[in-house]
Amino acid sequence: MENIKAYVQEHKDRFINELIELLKIPSVSADTAYSHDVFETADAVKASLEKAGCDFVEICDTPGYPIVYGEKIIDKSLPTILVYGHYDVQPPDPMELWTSPPFEPVIKKTEIHPEGAIFARGACDDKGQMYMHVKALEYMVQSNTLPCNVKFMIEGEEEIGSKSLSWFVERNQEKLKNDVILISDTGMISNQQPSITTGLRGLSYVEVEVTGPNRDLHSGLYGGAVANPINILAKMIASLHDENNHITIPGFYDNVAELSLEERAEMAKAPFNLENYKKALDLNDVYGESGYVTNERNSIRPTLDVNGIWGGYTGEGAKTVIASKAFAKISMRLVPNQDWEQITELFTKHFRSLAPAGVTVKVKPHHGGQGYVTPTDSIGYKAANMAYTETFGVPAIPVRSGGSIPIVALFEKELKSKTILMGFGLDSDAIHSPNEHFGVFNYLKGIETIPLFYKYFVELSK
Ligand code: BES
Ligand code: MN
Ligand code: MN
Repeated sequence: MENIKAYVQEHKDRFINELIELLKIPSVSADTAYSHDVFETADAVKASLEKAGCDFVEICDTPGYPIVYGEKIIDKSLPTILVYGHYDVQPPDPMELWTSPPFEPVIKKTEIHPEGAIFARGACDDKGQMYMHVKALEYMVQSNTLPCNVKFMIEGEEEIGSKSLSWFVERNQEKLKNDVILISDTGMISNQQPSITTGLRGLSYVEVEVTGPNRDLHSGLYGGAVANPINILAKMIASLHDENNHITIPGFYDNVAELSLEERAEMAKAPFNLENYKKALDLNDVYGESGYVTNERNSIRPTLDVNGIWGGYTGEGAKTVIASKAFAKISMRLVPNQDWEQITELFTKHFRSLAPAGVTVKVKPHHGGQGYVTPTDSIGYKAANMAYTETFGVPAIPVRSGGSIPIVALFEKELKSKTILMGFGLDSDAIHSPNEHFGVFNYLKGIETIPLFYKYFVELSK
């Protein structure tokens, strides 16, 4: 494996250029206007897996966007690593806040990435991190060091709830059989301090609609005499948190797995600087649930957030109007033992009960998934830690993340295997935001670290 560093150095310009080509295709899964591009990206991923050395690659059609499946089976008696990633990306808007166009990747230096970072939608989430695995395979095939079997499963609907992947996994248990699932779609603490994500939050995502009168009304002629759906919606949403920022939905916390004081003390050891955190976000203070610190609020505690709210007149100038309808999109991040379908039901029942006479309320569930925690005493975790230790010079710290990859819990249920989350992104990489980027250092370090995971996983499995 000594040669991986040299191999990366020799080929880094090509590695970067290949990723840039992939990033140029706007594979936005949420918006059907980009549908053609999403399919085209699947083809590009397929071609890259073939070139890297998979001996079988196929585009698997689904009711939605296709799944790219690839494999290289060298010996059925050896372990099999299943690599998962996604080739779809979030919508790029608001466009005007990008300093360079989201699908015209450029390398720019930043304070955190003095060696440069690739700016493009999907650079970090997840095309860049997924492609590290393709290049790591290329190295292992070229250098004849692939120590086990490998399967790739790259989907195109992660950002919209992985519906087709659930469908696919349920129907292909045998094909997807593996000893460990490896994913790079999370982050690490910093470029000096690697970490391994040991937990993901679950998710319940709903859309609500409040209807008042059957048409928009003159706010002078009718104002004061009928319920204004926007006023009512604002009031209903405000009541979902109490003065301690606890969520008020009855039963919401019933199954929440509480951490012991020892576990919380362990968490507090991870490096974190509140002043820098506030500075990075231009905040004069943080905000959240009483009784918990920032790193607990955003990882081991459940939340409820409005992601978007609209209704009435929002154009230029003033229009005097009482809207007929008001809407909001609401997400709840869940922690282990909370069941997303049950939480969706509790929300629906409670939200409907909040509606006063004079309006009607509809709640439409979008998608969701369970949270996940992975043990730190597994072979996979140990192998990942050994790999990071070798390339970064310091051991990785286990960290529970606040983000969600709902399909991970389903993998465990359907495929009966654990997932190792080897992320190489940074929180400051602006995933889902304008100016998303991925450090060139992170990209190349990932390519270097992954083959070591293979090596140690196979060694420890003996
Ligand atoms: N890669 C992210 C999730 C993530 C990022 C986890 C960083 C941990 C650290 C993933 O693509 C994502 O954005 N997931 C969505 C959920 C999905 C169902 C839309 C999320 O977390 O909002
Ligand atoms: Mn992702
Ligand atoms: Mn994402």
